[in-house]
Amino acid sequence: MKMLVAPSILSADFGKMAEAVENVKLWGADWVHCDVMDGVYVPNITFGMPMVKALRKYSDMVLDVHLMITKPEKYVGQFCDAGADIVTFHPEASDDVQGALDEIKSKGKKCGLVINADQPFEIVEKYLASIDLLLIMTVQAGFGGQSFKPECVEKAAKGAELRKKFGYSYLIEIDGGVSPKNVELLKQAGADVVVAGSSVFKSENPSLTVKQMQI
Ligand code: DX5
Ligand code: ZN
Repeated sequence: MKMLVAPSILSADFGKMAEAVENVKLWGADWVHCDVMDGVYVPNITFGMPMVKALRKYSDMVLDVHLMITKPEKYVGQFCDAGADIVTFHPEASDDVQGALDEIKSKGKKCGLVINADQPFEIVEKYLASIDLLLIMTVQAGFGGQSFKPECVEKAAKGAELRKKFGYSYLIEIDGGVSPKNVELLKQAGADVVVAGSSVFKSENPSLTVKQMQI
């Protein structure tokens, strides 16, 4: 299977978000990655359910919503109702990880967990049978445009190893500092999807950049 590419609209012009999601489709990408930050779990604030709901009208692509918020269990249902197709969150930010995963699934959506750059693989281990997507951060969550941390890639390899060993079905997605330069390494580690913010939105030829990562 070819690597799926999910451009992050965090790197788009916030005054032209509808155009950004339309461009993501024109560039031939696979999913749209939406970074939701609350200023509490991470030191940055982006947007919430109203933005997802608004963008849903402009795109028929998979909306991959990455929640960097505290107590995600309070909001996952609302993100599903707003039109998210996939909702992922950070388990250490939640008081009810299983409940939040179950709620996403009960809405007919895909659920996933995220391992932040400073967190160990073990935080997701007991939920691996319940998730559709395992998102591994290769930067500390909070901002776009940071440098890729190669030391985080071994968590993707561990996710791939356990998936094979126990027959789990989750996809493995990598987020943070991804570009055509490191995508091969991620493929080898077992990644199925890459998030790319600045490398796509700041590219002189975004279509080509997307294509170079669909390996
Ligand atoms: C970081 C976000 C990422 C980020 C990726 O907290 O989760 O999705 O937007 O942006 P780049 O590709 O620029 O690192
Ligand atoms: Zn993200």
